[in-house]
Amino acid sequence: MDKQSRYAELISQIEVFANDADHPISVLSNCAAVMKTIFPEEYFWVGFYIVKGDELILGPFQGTPACTRIKFGRGVCGTAWKEQRTLVVENVEKFPGHIACSSLSRSEIVVPLKHNGVVVGEIDIDSTELSTFDDVDRQFLEHAAEMIAPYMAKLAIPL
Ligand code: SME
Repeated sequence: MDKQSRYAELISQIEVFANDADHPISVLSNCAAVMKTIFPEEYFWVGFYIVKGDELILGPFQGTPACTRIKFGRGVCGTAWKEQRTLVVENVEKFPGHIACSSLSRSEIVVPLKHNGVVVGEIDIDSTELSTFDDVDRQFLEHAAEMIAPYMAKLAIPL
């Protein structure tokens, strides 16, 4: 299956799991699980960071253990938060201040989750290959982020 088709499948799966009947932690956990299931090779690590005051705290994820706290403006995640935009990093070694949770990560995409115009959390995805993520990933993941943001908002304590 090509990348577009897999993202279409991802969006329809998120529609199923993003629902008000479940606790937001369960929603985020299942969203991380379907992302890893649909992109098992491309997504070495996929998960959520939750805004809590002036830092991001680690939320539900799939992959190796990761940094539990990231300050506003720090690393790729803190920078995407500060700049309120998606960051696609082709080579993490060339990103000043990149925080290496795993030495295997080589490229990364971070998509802010915005609720009523405020960043409440992020989707973070790492790959073991260089230049894994492009504009197709960005567009579909921003769509996924819009669907997930209301649930993240229930957990977040915005800056
Ligand atoms: N690389 C991120 C840290 C989070 S881990 O990739 C899971 C950063 O620089 O903010």
